[in-house]
Amino acid sequence: MNILILGSGGREHSLAWAVKQNPKCDRLIVAPGNAGIAQLAECADIDILDGATVVTFCEENAVDFVIVGPEAPLAAGVADACRAAGLLTFGPSAAAARLEASKAFTKEICDACAAPTAAYARFTEASPARAYIAEKGAPIVVKADGLAAGKGVIVAMTEAEAIAAIDDMFAGEFGAAGAEVVIEDFMTGEEASFFILTDGTAALPIGTAQDHKRVGDGDTGPNTGGMGAYSPAPVLTEALQQQAMDRIVLPTIREMARRGTPYQGVLYAGLMIENGEARLVEYNCRFGDPETQVLMMRLGAQALDLMLACAKGALAQAQVNWAEDHALTVVMAANGYPGTYARGSQIRRLDTLPEDSRHMVFHAGTAERDGGIVAAGGRVLNVTARGTTLAEAREAAYGLVDRIDWPGGFCRRDIGWRAL
Ligand code: GLY
Repeated sequence: MNILILGSGGREHSLAWAVKQNPKCDRLIVAPGNAGIAQLAECADIDILDGATVVTFCEENAVDFVIVGPEAPLAAGVADACRAAGLLTFGPSAAAARLEASKAFTKEICDACAAPTAAYARFTEASPARAYIAEKGAPIVVKADGLAAGKGVIVAMTEAEAIAAIDDMFAGEFGAAGAEVVIEDFMTGEEASFFILTDGTAALPIGTAQDHKRVGDGDTGPNTGGMGAYSPAPVLTEALQQQAMDRIVLPTIREMARRGTPYQGVLYAGLMIENGEARLVEYNCRFGDPETQVLMMRLGAQALDLMLACAKGALAQAQVNWAEDHALTVVMAANGYPGTYARGSQIRRLDTLPEDSRHMVFHAGTAERDGGIVAAGGRVLNVTARGTTLAEAREAAYGLVDRIDWPGGFCRRDIGWRAL
Protein backbone atom coordinates (compact mmCIF):
# COMPACT_ATOMS: atom_id res chain seq x y z
CA MET A 1 0.00 0.00 0.00
CA ASN A 2 0.99 3.63 -0.52
CA ILE A 3 1.28 5.50 2.77
CA LEU A 4 1.49 9.22 3.51
CA ILE A 5 2.77 10.46 6.89
CA LEU A 6 2.24 14.13 7.72
CA GLY A 7 4.92 15.89 9.76
CA SER A 8 8.61 16.74 9.86
CA GLY A 9 10.02 15.91 13.28
CA GLY A 10 11.82 13.10 15.04
CA ARG A 11 8.38 11.63 15.78
CA GLU A 12 7.60 11.34 12.08
CA HIS A 13 11.07 9.99 11.25
CA SER A 14 10.55 7.19 13.77
CA LEU A 15 7.02 6.51 12.48
CA ALA A 16 8.37 6.35 8.92
CA TRP A 17 11.21 4.05 10.04
CA ALA A 18 8.76 1.61 11.68
CA VAL A 19 6.19 1.75 8.85
CA LYS A 20 8.88 1.17 6.20
CA GLN A 21 9.86 -2.13 7.83
CA ASN A 22 6.39 -3.56 7.33
CA PRO A 23 6.01 -5.53 4.06
CA LYS A 24 2.55 -3.97 3.60
CA CYS A 25 4.27 -0.66 2.82
CA ASP A 26 5.03 -0.32 -0.90
CA ARG A 27 5.53 3.42 -1.26
CA LEU A 28 6.16 5.79 1.64
CA ILE A 29 5.78 9.57 1.36
CA VAL A 30 6.31 12.01 4.22
CA ALA A 31 5.12 15.61 3.98
CA PRO A 32 7.09 17.74 4.43
CA GLY A 33 9.69 15.41 6.04
CA ASN A 34 13.30 16.30 6.82
CA ALA A 35 16.81 15.34 5.73
CA GLY A 36 16.82 12.07 7.72
CA ILE A 37 13.36 11.06 6.51
CA ALA A 38 14.51 11.71 2.94
CA GLN A 39 16.98 8.83 3.36
CA LEU A 40 14.13 6.32 3.69
CA ALA A 41 11.04 7.89 2.13
CA GLU A 42 9.96 10.37 -0.53
CA CYS A 43 9.42 13.85 0.88
CA ALA A 44 6.68 16.16 -0.44
CA ASP A 45 6.58 19.85 0.31
CA ILE A 46 2.84 20.48 0.66
CA ASP A 47 0.77 22.55 3.09
CA ILE A 48 -0.20 19.91 5.65
CA LEU A 49 -2.57 22.29 7.46
CA ASP A 50 -4.85 22.43 4.44
CA GLY A 51 -7.18 19.43 4.16
CA ALA A 52 -8.03 20.04 0.50
CA THR A 53 -4.34 20.15 -0.45
CA VAL A 54 -3.65 16.91 1.40
CA VAL A 55 -6.66 15.17 -0.21
CA THR A 56 -5.64 16.30 -3.72
CA PHE A 57 -2.09 15.10 -3.09
CA CYS A 58 -3.41 11.71 -1.93
CA GLU A 59 -5.61 11.38 -5.03
CA GLU A 60 -2.76 12.29 -7.35
CA ASN A 61 -0.39 9.83 -5.68
CA ALA A 62 -2.80 6.93 -5.10
CA VAL A 63 -2.29 7.10 -1.35
CA ASP A 64 -4.10 4.30 0.52
CA PHE A 65 -3.41 5.30 4.12
CA VAL A 66 -2.76 8.66 5.78
CA ILE A 67 -1.06 8.97 9.18
CA VAL A 68 -1.30 12.44 10.73
CA GLY A 69 1.65 13.15 13.05
CA PRO A 70 1.34 16.60 14.68
CA GLU A 71 -1.58 18.21 16.51
CA ALA A 72 -1.91 21.29 14.29
CA PRO A 73 -3.28 19.48 11.18
CA LEU A 74 -5.54 17.38 13.42
CA ALA A 75 -6.97 20.49 15.09
CA ALA A 76 -7.35 22.05 11.62
CA GLY A 77 -9.54 19.14 10.49
CA VAL A 78 -7.12 17.46 8.08
CA ALA A 79 -8.12 13.96 9.26
CA ASP A 80 -11.80 14.91 8.73
CA ALA A 81 -11.06 16.07 5.18
CA CYS A 82 -9.18 12.84 4.39
CA ARG A 83 -11.94 10.62 5.79
CA ALA A 84 -14.62 12.64 3.98
CA ALA A 85 -12.72 11.94 0.75
CA GLY A 86 -12.84 8.21 1.52
CA LEU A 87 -9.19 7.89 2.58
CA LEU A 88 -8.23 5.45 5.32
CA THR A 89 -6.83 7.81 7.97
CA PHE A 90 -5.09 7.51 11.33
CA GLY A 91 -5.81 10.46 13.63
CA PRO A 92 -8.77 12.04 15.40
CA SER A 93 -11.32 14.43 13.96
CA ALA A 94 -10.99 18.13 14.82
CA ALA A 95 -13.87 17.69 17.27
CA ALA A 96 -12.05 14.85 19.06
CA ALA A 97 -8.67 16.60 18.85
CA ARG A 98 -10.14 19.22 21.20
CA LEU A 99 -8.84 16.93 23.93
CA GLU A 100 -5.50 18.61 23.17
CA ALA A 101 -6.63 21.78 21.42
CA SER A 102 -8.73 23.01 24.36
CA LYS A 103 -7.56 22.57 27.93
CA ALA A 104 -10.97 23.74 29.18
CA PHE A 105 -12.70 21.08 27.06
CA THR A 106 -10.53 18.35 28.57
CA LYS A 107 -11.45 19.53 32.06
CA GLU A 108 -15.13 19.47 31.07
CA ILE A 109 -14.73 15.87 29.85
CA CYS A 110 -12.96 14.90 33.09
CA ASP A 111 -15.83 16.43 35.07
CA ALA A 112 -18.40 14.57 32.96
CA CYS A 113 -16.76 11.18 33.47
CA ALA A 114 -15.30 11.75 36.95
CA ALA A 115 -11.73 11.21 35.77
CA PRO A 116 -9.23 12.23 38.47
CA THR A 117 -7.38 15.44 37.60
CA ALA A 118 -6.36 18.69 39.32
CA ALA A 119 -9.10 21.05 40.56
CA TYR A 120 -9.43 24.04 38.26
CA ALA A 121 -11.28 27.17 37.22
CA ARG A 122 -11.56 28.81 33.78
CA PHE A 123 -11.49 32.50 32.94
CA THR A 124 -12.01 34.79 29.97
CA GLU A 125 -10.94 37.95 31.84
CA ALA A 126 -7.81 38.85 33.74
CA SER A 127 -9.26 40.40 36.87
CA PRO A 128 -11.25 37.38 38.22
CA ALA A 129 -8.29 35.18 37.24
CA ARG A 130 -5.96 37.34 39.32
CA ALA A 131 -8.38 37.21 42.26
CA TYR A 132 -8.52 33.40 41.99
CA ILE A 133 -4.72 33.20 42.11
CA ALA A 134 -4.63 35.48 45.17
CA GLU A 135 -7.15 33.19 46.87
CA LYS A 136 -5.43 29.89 45.94
CA GLY A 137 -1.77 30.97 46.32
CA ALA A 138 1.23 29.33 44.63
CA PRO A 139 2.51 27.03 43.29
CA ILE A 140 -0.26 26.99 40.72
CA VAL A 141 -0.56 26.12 37.02
CA VAL A 142 -1.74 28.58 34.36
CA LYS A 143 -2.71 27.16 30.97
CA ALA A 144 -3.70 28.93 27.77
CA ASP A 145 -6.80 27.10 26.57
CA GLY A 146 -5.68 26.56 22.97
CA LEU A 147 -2.66 25.23 21.10
CA ALA A 148 0.45 27.28 21.84
CA ALA A 149 3.27 25.18 20.36
CA GLY A 150 4.00 23.60 23.75
CA LYS A 151 4.58 26.99 25.43
CA GLY A 152 1.11 27.66 26.84
CA VAL A 153 1.50 25.93 30.22
CA ILE A 154 3.15 27.92 33.00
CA VAL A 155 3.93 26.12 36.25
CA ALA A 156 4.12 29.20 38.48
CA MET A 157 6.08 28.74 41.68
CA THR A 158 5.06 32.20 42.97
CA GLU A 159 1.86 34.26 42.81
CA ALA A 160 3.76 37.00 40.93
CA GLU A 161 4.74 34.50 38.23
CA ALA A 162 1.15 33.31 37.91
CA ILE A 163 -0.21 36.87 37.67
CA ALA A 164 2.43 37.71 35.03
CA ALA A 165 1.36 34.62 33.04
CA ILE A 166 -2.29 35.70 33.23
CA ASP A 167 -1.45 39.22 32.11
CA ASP A 168 0.70 37.96 29.22
CA MET A 169 -2.01 35.58 28.04
CA PHE A 170 -4.79 38.14 28.14
CA ALA A 171 -2.44 40.65 26.45
CA GLY A 172 -2.36 38.25 23.50
CA GLU A 173 0.97 36.45 23.93
CA PHE A 174 -0.56 33.28 22.47
CA GLY A 175 -3.15 34.99 20.29
CA ALA A 176 -6.56 33.34 20.27
CA ALA A 177 -5.15 30.34 22.17
CA GLY A 178 -4.94 32.55 25.28
CA ALA A 179 -8.40 34.11 25.00
CA GLU A 180 -9.51 31.64 27.67
CA VAL A 181 -7.28 30.52 30.52
CA VAL A 182 -7.48 27.47 32.78
CA ILE A 183 -5.93 27.77 36.23
CA GLU A 184 -5.40 24.52 38.05
CA ASP A 185 -3.93 23.19 41.26
CA PHE A 186 -0.28 22.24 41.19
CA MET A 187 0.05 18.46 41.37
CA THR A 188 3.01 16.79 43.03
CA GLY A 189 4.32 13.35 42.07
CA GLU A 190 6.11 11.78 39.13
CA GLU A 191 4.93 12.45 35.59
CA ALA A 192 4.80 9.78 32.90
CA SER A 193 3.33 9.35 29.44
CA PHE A 194 0.83 6.61 28.59
CA PHE A 195 -0.09 5.87 24.96
CA ILE A 196 -3.36 4.22 23.98
CA LEU A 197 -4.72 3.44 20.53
CA THR A 198 -8.47 3.66 20.20
CA ASP A 199 -10.84 3.23 17.27
CA GLY A 200 -13.59 5.02 19.16
CA THR A 201 -14.77 1.93 21.01
CA ALA A 202 -11.93 -0.52 21.64
CA ALA A 203 -8.76 0.68 23.33
CA LEU A 204 -5.29 -0.85 23.29
CA PRO A 205 -2.43 0.46 25.46
CA ILE A 206 0.74 0.52 23.36
CA GLY A 207 3.35 1.63 25.80
CA THR A 208 4.66 3.97 28.46
CA ALA A 209 7.53 6.45 28.45
CA GLN A 210 9.03 9.32 30.39
CA ASP A 211 10.59 12.39 28.88
CA HIS A 212 12.91 15.07 30.25
CA LYS A 213 11.44 18.52 29.73
CA ARG A 214 14.16 20.73 31.23
CA VAL A 215 17.20 21.68 29.20
CA GLY A 216 19.85 20.93 31.83
CA ASP A 217 21.16 17.88 33.66
CA GLY A 218 19.35 17.16 36.91
CA ASP A 219 16.14 18.60 35.38
CA THR A 220 17.36 22.19 35.65
CA GLY A 221 16.94 25.26 33.43
CA PRO A 222 14.11 26.26 31.14
CA ASN A 223 11.49 23.93 29.68
CA THR A 224 12.01 22.50 26.21
CA GLY A 225 10.05 20.34 23.81
CA GLY A 226 11.84 17.36 25.43
CA MET A 227 15.54 16.52 25.75
CA GLY A 228 15.27 12.74 25.84
CA ALA A 229 12.98 9.85 26.73
CA TYR A 230 12.92 6.20 27.60
CA SER A 231 10.41 3.37 27.45
CA PRO A 232 9.01 1.66 29.39
CA ALA A 233 8.46 4.04 32.31
CA PRO A 234 8.94 1.92 35.47
CA VAL A 235 6.70 4.28 37.48
CA LEU A 236 3.71 3.24 35.36
CA THR A 237 3.35 -0.27 36.68
CA GLU A 238 0.84 -2.72 35.16
CA ALA A 239 -1.50 -1.97 38.08
CA LEU A 240 -1.28 1.79 37.52
CA GLN A 241 -1.83 1.38 33.78
CA GLN A 242 -4.97 -0.64 34.52
CA GLN A 243 -6.11 1.98 37.02
CA ALA A 244 -5.53 4.77 34.47
CA MET A 245 -7.46 2.80 31.85
CA ASP A 246 -10.40 2.16 34.20
CA ARG A 247 -10.63 5.61 35.78
CA ILE A 248 -9.40 7.98 33.08
CA VAL A 249 -8.91 6.63 29.57
CA LEU A 250 -11.93 4.35 29.07
CA PRO A 251 -14.37 6.82 30.66
CA THR A 252 -12.96 9.53 28.34
CA ILE A 253 -13.35 7.33 25.25
CA ARG A 254 -16.95 6.49 26.26
CA GLU A 255 -17.77 10.14 26.95
CA MET A 256 -16.37 11.24 23.57
CA ALA A 257 -18.45 8.56 21.82
CA ARG A 258 -21.54 9.49 23.83
CA ARG A 259 -21.20 13.10 22.59
CA GLY A 260 -21.11 11.92 18.98
CA THR A 261 -17.42 12.78 18.59
CA PRO A 262 -15.69 9.39 18.94
CA TYR A 263 -11.93 9.55 19.30
CA GLN A 264 -9.92 7.58 16.73
CA GLY A 265 -6.13 7.57 16.82
CA VAL A 266 -3.54 7.63 19.54
CA LEU A 267 -4.52 9.15 22.85
CA TYR A 268 -1.49 10.34 24.81
CA ALA A 269 -2.32 10.70 28.48
CA GLY A 270 0.15 12.71 30.56
CA LEU A 271 -0.28 11.28 34.05
CA MET A 272 0.87 12.38 37.50
CA ILE A 273 1.60 9.46 39.79
CA GLU A 274 1.56 9.84 43.55
CA ASN A 275 0.80 7.41 46.38
CA GLY A 276 -0.38 4.69 44.00
CA GLU A 277 -2.86 7.01 42.25
CA ALA A 278 -2.74 8.25 38.66
CA ARG A 279 -4.27 11.65 37.83
CA LEU A 280 -4.58 13.25 34.40
CA VAL A 281 -2.25 16.19 33.72
CA GLU A 282 -3.27 16.59 30.08
CA TYR A 283 -4.25 14.76 26.94
CA ASN A 284 -2.49 15.04 23.62
CA CYS A 285 -4.20 13.90 20.44
CA ARG A 286 -1.00 12.60 18.81
CA PHE A 287 2.11 10.61 19.59
CA GLY A 288 4.63 12.29 21.92
CA ASP A 289 7.93 13.69 20.73
CA PRO A 290 10.52 12.35 21.69
CA GLU A 291 8.52 9.48 23.28
CA THR A 292 7.50 8.08 19.88
CA GLN A 293 11.14 7.56 18.99
CA VAL A 294 11.52 5.05 21.85
CA LEU A 295 8.07 3.51 21.32
CA MET A 296 8.72 2.90 17.62
CA MET A 297 12.12 1.41 18.36
CA ARG A 298 10.35 -1.14 20.59
CA LEU A 299 7.30 -1.72 18.36
CA GLY A 300 8.98 -1.84 14.94
CA ALA A 301 6.99 -2.98 11.91
CA GLN A 302 3.84 -3.92 13.88
CA ALA A 303 3.22 -0.20 14.45
CA LEU A 304 1.72 -0.05 10.95
CA ASP A 305 -0.62 -3.01 11.61
CA LEU A 306 -1.78 -1.39 14.83
CA MET A 307 -2.44 1.99 13.20
CA LEU A 308 -4.29 0.28 10.35
CA ALA A 309 -6.45 -1.69 12.81
CA CYS A 310 -7.19 1.58 14.59
CA ALA A 311 -8.19 3.38 11.39
CA LYS A 312 -10.35 0.46 10.23
CA GLY A 313 -12.21 0.16 13.54
CA ALA A 314 -10.73 -3.30 14.10
CA LEU A 315 -8.70 -2.65 17.22
CA ALA A 316 -10.66 -5.18 19.31
CA GLN A 317 -8.91 -7.95 17.38
CA ALA A 318 -5.43 -6.37 17.60
CA GLN A 319 -2.69 -7.06 20.10
CA VAL A 320 0.79 -5.75 20.80
CA ASN A 321 3.75 -8.12 20.79
CA TRP A 322 6.31 -6.66 23.11
CA ALA A 323 9.96 -7.48 23.19
CA GLU A 324 10.89 -7.40 26.88
CA ASP A 325 13.43 -4.68 26.34
CA HIS A 326 14.09 -0.97 26.79
CA ALA A 327 14.77 1.95 24.51
CA LEU A 328 16.26 5.35 25.26
CA THR A 329 16.69 8.42 23.11
CA VAL A 330 19.00 11.40 23.67
CA VAL A 331 18.01 14.66 22.00
CA MET A 332 20.87 16.66 20.53
CA ALA A 333 19.95 20.34 20.22
CA ALA A 334 21.60 23.37 18.66
CA ASN A 335 23.73 25.40 21.11
CA GLY A 336 21.51 28.08 22.67
CA TYR A 337 18.27 26.07 22.51
CA PRO A 338 15.61 26.67 23.88
CA GLY A 339 16.70 30.31 23.53
CA THR A 340 18.14 31.68 20.31
CA TYR A 341 20.32 29.34 18.31
CA ALA A 342 22.09 29.35 14.96
CA ARG A 343 21.02 27.27 11.97
CA GLY A 344 23.35 25.79 9.39
CA SER A 345 26.08 24.21 11.54
CA GLN A 346 27.48 21.07 9.97
CA ILE A 347 26.90 17.65 11.57
CA ARG A 348 29.54 15.08 10.64
CA ARG A 349 30.06 11.32 10.98
CA LEU A 350 26.35 10.41 11.05
CA ASP A 351 27.03 8.11 8.11
CA THR A 352 29.50 6.08 10.19
CA LEU A 353 26.88 5.08 12.79
CA PRO A 354 24.98 1.78 12.74
CA GLU A 355 21.34 1.93 11.62
CA ASP A 356 19.48 -1.23 12.56
CA SER A 357 16.69 -2.49 14.81
CA ARG A 358 18.72 -1.53 17.91
CA HIS A 359 20.37 1.75 16.90
CA MET A 360 18.95 4.69 15.02
CA VAL A 361 19.50 8.43 14.79
CA PHE A 362 16.10 9.98 14.11
CA HIS A 363 16.31 13.46 12.61
CA ALA A 364 14.20 16.42 13.76
CA GLY A 365 15.45 19.87 12.62
CA THR A 366 17.92 18.88 9.93
CA ALA A 367 18.49 19.82 6.30
CA GLU A 368 20.69 18.47 3.55
CA ARG A 369 23.36 20.87 2.21
CA ASP A 370 26.04 20.02 -0.34
CA GLY A 371 25.65 16.32 0.37
CA GLY A 372 26.02 16.78 4.14
CA ILE A 373 23.61 17.28 7.05
CA VAL A 374 23.21 20.66 8.76
CA ALA A 375 21.17 21.80 11.75
CA ALA A 376 17.93 23.50 10.74
CA GLY A 377 16.08 23.79 14.04
CA GLY A 378 16.38 23.77 17.84
CA ARG A 379 15.99 20.07 18.54
CA VAL A 380 18.00 18.42 15.80
CA LEU A 381 18.75 14.71 16.40
CA ASN A 382 17.25 11.89 18.47
CA VAL A 383 20.00 9.39 19.12
CA THR A 384 18.17 6.19 20.01
CA ALA A 385 19.16 2.71 21.13
CA ARG A 386 17.60 -0.46 22.55
CA GLY A 387 18.98 -2.69 25.27
CA THR A 388 17.94 -5.64 27.39
CA THR A 389 18.10 -3.23 30.32
CA LEU A 390 17.61 0.53 30.47
CA ALA A 391 21.24 0.92 31.52
CA GLU A 392 22.33 -0.97 28.41
CA ALA A 393 20.10 1.15 26.16
CA ARG A 394 21.50 4.31 27.73
CA GLU A 395 25.10 3.20 27.31
CA ALA A 396 24.46 2.34 23.66
CA ALA A 397 22.70 5.68 22.98
CA TYR A 398 25.48 7.75 24.55
CA GLY A 399 28.02 5.59 22.68
CA LEU A 400 26.39 6.81 19.45
CA VAL A 401 26.21 10.42 20.68
CA ASP A 402 29.95 10.40 21.34
CA ARG A 403 30.67 9.35 17.77
CA ILE A 404 28.80 12.33 16.28
CA ASP A 405 30.98 15.29 15.35
CA TRP A 406 28.85 18.39 15.92
CA PRO A 407 30.49 21.28 17.81
CA GLY A 408 27.33 23.35 17.20
CA GLY A 409 25.16 21.05 19.34
CA PHE A 410 24.76 19.73 22.87
CA CYS A 411 22.75 17.16 24.83
CA ARG A 412 21.91 16.26 28.40
CA ARG A 413 24.18 13.56 29.81
CA ASP A 414 21.69 12.14 32.31
CA ILE A 415 18.72 10.88 30.28
CA GLY A 416 17.06 8.06 32.20
CA TRP A 417 18.40 9.12 35.61
CA ARG A 418 15.06 8.83 37.35
CA ALA A 419 14.51 5.24 36.31
CA LEU A 420 18.11 4.23 36.85
N1 GLY B 1 7.03 15.04 24.95
C1 GLY B 1 5.98 15.94 25.14
C2 GLY B 1 5.05 16.06 24.02
O1 GLY B 1 5.17 15.40 23.01
O2 GLY B 1 4.10 16.84 24.13
